[in-house]
Amino acid sequence: MLPTIAREHDVVVMIDQRKLPSQEVYVRCKNATDVARAIKTMVIRGAPAIGVAAAMGIALGMRKSTSTGTQKFAAEFHKACELMAATRPTAVNLFWAIERMRRSFAAAAQAGDSVEEIKDRLDREAQTIHDEDVASCRALGAFGADVVPADARVLTHCNAGALATAGYGTALGVIRGAVEQGKRVAVFADETRPFLQGARLTAWELVRDGIPTTVITDNMTGALMRQTPIDLVVVGADRIAANGDTANKIGTYGVAVLAHEHKVPFYVAAPLSTIDLNTPDGDHIPIEQRNAREVTHVGSSQLTPEGASIWNPAFDVTPHQFISAIITERGIFRAPYVESLKQAFETVPLG
Ligand code: MRU
Repeated sequence: MLPTIAREHDVVVMIDQRKLPSQEVYVRCKNATDVARAIKTMVIRGAPAIGVAAAMGIALGMRKSTSTGTQKFAAEFHKACELMAATRPTAVNLFWAIERMRRSFAAAAQAGDSVEEIKDRLDREAQTIHDEDVASCRALGAFGADVVPADARVLTHCNAGALATAGYGTALGVIRGAVEQGKRVAVFADETRPFLQGARLTAWELVRDGIPTTVITDNMTGALMRQTPIDLVVVGADRIAANGDTANKIGTYGVAVLAHEHKVPFYVAAPLSTIDLNTPDGDHIPIEQRNAREVTHVGSSQLTPEGASIWNPAFDVTPHQFISAIITERGIFRAPYVESLKQAFETVPLG
């Protein structure tokens, strides 16, 4: 499996996703600040992956702490949590993972653990978050495989693969699940301007797996759907609101509208850690605005003239009306999402 992120003794190691596919290099983060910077600068990206990175960054930061008293240690811990929370605003997995680390810290403090014991507990919690994410992706991949026909053409947007998670992927988890069931799947990957997650990362992952992949530029989706029968669209998510409205990579909304027009089922695949029942609808999801340079330049080449204004939202919101179903590790949930997503959290996990 792809090594997205791992904790080694005194570092957190992650593959540098900015450099793929031309270079396979690893970034070694020595402290919490390094990890926060890696999230912000997209060394690591993808909602579940940045949640795992934040948890590992907090655990690493606390492991490196020289505080001996629990009060000073607690103050440092809260600072590390705030540092991670300030990296990227949209993916709720980030805040979900930080909250899990906070709860783990509180339980340790409540139990009267020593600083060394708290460090051990935080390390274990971060690793558990990592391992559970892989398990969730595999489970949702197996459920999602059921919606994929035996000989399927599937379109995806951005990268919701092993690189965007602790491993296996969400949207690509569904594709991998179908392939593991013996289905023949051909994938169309939107290139995903401006950061090119589809062209660079999704295509890289799928080609490595031997899954037939065709990259298209984002403005080709409509023409493709008119000319080629597409069986389904499957994408990941950064935050799913209580009513099913879904924030995902910019361009997803346009794909959903086209899928609706062409009667192509549109699925969102995400673990429960991406569902935010405290956010009532898509209008309440904070959308990250990123640096203009991502739009003005490709690599070091400037595309736009000086003086042109740039709008660069990293995500858009797909209204729930366009979503055929939400595929999770607890099963496949359909409209009305206000009810079904609440039930998803009440469902007893299998196994
Ligand atoms: O800006 P990014 O690359 O972090 O955005 C990633 C996406 O939008 C993914 O589709 C989403 O996080 C789901 S990843 C399983």
